Amino acid sequence: MFEQIIRVSTGIPYLDALTQGGFIKGTTNLVIGPAGAGKTIFGLHFLLEGARKKENGLLVAMQEPPWAIRRDASNFSFFDPTYFVEPEKIIMLDFTPSGWELWDPDSLTFAEESDLMIDAEGVPYDETSLPTFLHKIFYHISQVVEQQKIERIVIDPLAAFQFYDYGNDSGFLRKLTTGFLANISALNVTTVAISELSSGIDHSLFGEEYIADSITHLDMLSVRGEMIRILRISKMRATNHTTKTLRFEISTNGITFLNADND
Ligand SMILES: Nc1ncnc2c1ncn2[C@@H]1O[C@H](COP(=O)(O)OP(=O)(O)OP(=O)(O)O)[C@@H](O)[C@H]1O
Ligand SMILES: [Mg+2]
Repeated sequence: MFEQIIRVSTGIPYLDALTQGGFIKGTTNLVIGPAGAGKTIFGLHFLLEGARKKENGLLVAMQEPPWAIRRDASNFSFFDPTYFVEPEKIIMLDFTPSGWELWDPDSLTFAEESDLMIDAEGVPYDETSLPTFLHKIFYHISQVVEQQKIERIVIDPLAAFQFYDYGNDSGFLRKLTTGFLANISALNVTTVAISELSSGIDHSLFGEEYIADSITHLDMLSVRGEMIRILRISKMRATNHTTKTLRFEISTNGITFLNADND
């Protein structure tokens, strides 16, 4: 029997309308753009819409700590504080550099027995190494997904490797990054993976675009002295998606599109 395509709302009605209903359930979706482009806000739309529909969400914070994301989220009209208090509809894991120091390394069991696809062969076991860090993060995510019946994940941002110095060994970083994403994909939970880009550079450096099932680019342009925000979808597997570059704004209503009459 063929598996049916089920759509999961992005949390942004106009985008759902231009993508046959949103992301495909169980897929991994990349949102990429430079600092301030609206990536975290995009992720919040996705998680809060899920919570509204009683679909539990997991936010994996890798850079901005959960308390700051929650504080910033409270500025939006679609925010609901009850989603973040017990029993939480949105669970937040702190894997930021400062949060990481708070973890007891022993409390994050190293998933030796699991069939992780990240290949750390030849890399010596080291509590502070990137392969170990990614193994632990993935193991922890998979536990929470199972225990809390998580249906939506946001990883903000994916680029955990930026805190590690692997010199110019980009092949190694690429292998780890794509391996980590492949593991996340295998969880079959609809995921938004946020990736950072320098303004003007249009592609990710670590191969995540090839693993992802969709790619949404957010960017900012300066036009006649005014900053304008743009979004385009360069890839969405199995989807007749818009090929237009869409102008959007950010306000207390979050991301809204110019020319859109439905949100
Ligand atoms: N209430 C608001 N009204 C207007 N604009 C807002 C509002 N709240 C946030 N913004 C805009 O959103 C931007 C931040 O968006 P967001 O945090 O999603 O960016 P990001 O892409 O995640 O950036 P980073 O890579 O630095 O984490 C702010 O710089 C601001 O321009
Ligand atoms: Mg952000």
